[in-house]
Amino acid sequence: MGKPEFLQNTAMIIQMKSLDSLVEGRPIDNPVVKPLLEAVLGRRTQRLPIWIMRQAGRYLPEYRETRTRAGNFLELCYTPELATEVTLQPLRRFDLDAAILFSDILVVPDALGQAVRFETGEGPMLAPLDQSGIDALEPARAEAHLAPVIETVRRIRAVIRPETTLIGFCGSPWTVATYMIGGRGSSDQAAARLFSLRHPAAFQRLIDVLVETSIGYLVRQLDAGADVVQLFESWALNLDELAFRQWVIAPNRRIVAGIRAMRPNAPIIGFPRGAAGMLPVYAAETGVNVLGLDYGVPLAIDDVLPEGLGVQGNLDPLRLVAGGGQMLDRARDIVAGFSGRPHIFNLGHGIVPDTPIAHLEALIAHLRGL
Ligand code: CP3
Repeated sequence: MGKPEFLQNTAMIIQMKSLDSLVEGRPIDNPVVKPLLEAVLGRRTQRLPIWIMRQAGRYLPEYRETRTRAGNFLELCYTPELATEVTLQPLRRFDLDAAILFSDILVVPDALGQAVRFETGEGPMLAPLDQSGIDALEPARAEAHLAPVIETVRRIRAVIRPETTLIGFCGSPWTVATYMIGGRGSSDQAAARLFSLRHPAAFQRLIDVLVETSIGYLVRQLDAGADVVQLFESWALNLDELAFRQWVIAPNRRIVAGIRAMRPNAPIIGFPRGAAGMLPVYAAETGVNVLGLDYGVPLAIDDVLPEGLGVQGNLDPLRLVAGGGQMLDRARDIVAGFSGRPHIFNLGHGIVPDTPIAHLEALIAHLRGL
């Protein structure tokens, strides 16, 4: 796919930028450009914006040290001083264009009154919800419960460089619901899929609570200083077309519309992992600015996505673990494959704990030299 004509002329882009500044009321002489935010807003930039999914985490010794100090994982998420510290750790080491709020998608069920525990080596554990459990959730307590996370956003914004984009996030309703119904992660999400088929009305009530809670939570993140918010739909796989429309597209669309009803033009990234053939429909119907691509998505997706839609992602995290030429070659191909549209370099899923730090350094140096 060729570049849209208006993107081919740099002078034109600069002109459009200043017009934009006027329209949005930003001072026209403000020289600070956030390359990653620019890409989310649909503009190609000189600098390739880079961030790494789950960039703060166990592959970093300083993260493991802070995590030990916090005692447990949720304590880390709810302590603004420590959560800010781990957010900044990858930025000190690597030349990245974004900070991502350090938190977890499962703070939302915790805030709704369904306690979440993280056992080392076990992943998240919740007492599975039944129909009466859904009706016992307490949306009214979520805002106060999540206040420390919002305070973390404020603190991060205050200390990062102005060129660095701050990404806030939440889990998308279906993905969060798979944990709430199943009580833990699973490879096929069978518990939530069966529950949604047997008790569609109760399941819809759960999705409704998550949609409303997520809208308020993300608007507060934007107001506290997040430049962009990302919807993590990590379990968009294993759904048939009907279920995908009902439980992935509709709730994500409602969240995007709900946020924009309060904060028009809010920049939003959607990451429907495993959406495969439903990706173009997801992009068209949810209204996200940027589509996150998992590593199963072929580069030829470029031919079928709407012109000008931004993309992010795609490198298999295990290529980063193995390192070397295969990683660098694939990274180069991804950059070339999406050169006709706004593109944010990222992995196709989260970085894994046994990733060598030197491999990430080599990847970023390679990307900066392209
Ligand atoms: O830099 C960052 O991106 C960190 C912030 C972040 C975390 N989780 C921290 C975390 C983000 C954006 C997430 C999102 C998240 N959490 C998702 C969506 C992204 C994806 O990977 O698909 C999901 C599905 C979760 C739920 C979750 N949290 C699981 C399944 C687990 C256990 C498995 C694992 O990855 O460890 C967690 C724990 C978790 N969340 C850790 C971190 C750093 C590890 C906890 C620890 O320190 O022991």
